[in-house]
Amino acid sequence: MARSGKVAVIGAGFYGSTTALRLAEYDIFETVVLTDVLEGKPEGLALDINQSRWIEGFETMVVGQTTGPNGEGYEAIAGSETVVITAGLPRKPGMSRMDLIETNAKIMRQVAENVKKFAPDAVVINVANPLDEMTALAQIVTDFPHHRVIGQAGMLDTARFTHFVAEDLDVPVSAVTTLTLGSHGDTMVPVASVCTVNGKPLGEMVSQERIDALVERTRNGGAEIVGLLKTGSAYYAPSAAAARMARAVHEDSGAVMPVCAWVQGEYGLSGAYLGVEAEIGRTGIRRIVETPLTDDEKALLVTAYEAVKAKQADVKDL
Ligand code: LAC
Repeated sequence: MARSGKVAVIGAGFYGSTTALRLAEYDIFETVVLTDVLEGKPEGLALDINQSRWIEGFETMVVGQTTGPNGEGYEAIAGSETVVITAGLPRKPGMSRMDLIETNAKIMRQVAENVKKFAPDAVVINVANPLDEMTALAQIVTDFPHHRVIGQAGMLDTARFTHFVAEDLDVPVSAVTTLTLGSHGDTMVPVASVCTVNGKPLGEMVSQERIDALVERTRNGGAEIVGLLKTGSAYYAPSAAAARMARAVHEDSGAVMPVCAWVQGEYGLSGAYLGVEAEIGRTGIRRIVETPLTDDEKALLVTAYEAVKAKQADVKDL
C-alpha cells in the first residue's frame, strides 16, 4: 500500500502519544510527527513506537521533536496535512472542563501561532478542553478558514453512548447506532430519536427512564474516567476518535462524523463552534449535515449553541 503525507500531533501526553500510535498503525502515512515541550519525551516515545513496527507490521515512521518556548523545533511539522492539537492540561477529579480554560488558552495560543507559521495549509483538529472554546481559539489565532479548524468530541461522546447502550442491552456495539450533538460538556445533546439497536428504535427496546440514565452516564462519561484514574483523563477512546478524523482528511473520504464545527446557518444557528454532523475530507469540513431532530432535541441544541456561543465570545481575550 502506498503511504503518503505527514500528520503532526502536538503534545505527547497519553492522548497525544496514543493518537500518534494509532495514526502510525494505520500504515497510510509516510510520517507521523509527535512534539512536546518536555525535552526528550517525544523523541523517546517515537523511538519506542518505531521499534514496534516490525512486530505490528507497519512502515510509517514516527518523528519525535521537542519544541522550545519560542517555537524552536516546530519546523518539524512543516508540510503536515493535518495537525492534531492535544497540548493542554487534563482535568483532575472534581474539575469541570471549563476549569481548564485559562491555562489551556495560554498553551493553545502558543501552539496555534506556531501551527499558523509552520503548517499554514494544515487542517487543525483540536482536542484540548474546554473543547468548543479551545477550538474557537485555535481558529482565531491561526486565522485559518473555519472549515480547516475542527474539534474532536462528538465522535467520542457518540462512542461512549454506543458502548453504554450495547453493554446495557448485551448486544455487540456494531448493532448499535447512536448520536450526540451540541457541546462537549453539560449541554451535550444525545439524539435519542435516531438511536437504533439492530435497526429498531432504541425507544421501543428500552424504557425512557433507562435511556435517560444512559444519556446521563454519557454526559458524565469523561468525568467518570477522570474520577477512576485520579491523575489525567481518558485517552483510548478520545485518541481513536481524533485519529479517525485525521484519517478521513487524509483519505478525503467524505465520512460523516459528529464533530465540533463552525455553524453558518445550519439549524438556523450561526457564528459558533458547535457539535454537529459533518462530512470530512481534504479541506476539513466539506459540509455540515443537518440531522432531522425532534422539537425537544432541537431545543436542546439551541441551548447548547447559546451556551457555547457566549463562552466563545470571551476566548479571544484569553
Ligand atoms: C473526555 C475528555 C478528553 O471527555 O474531554 O474524556
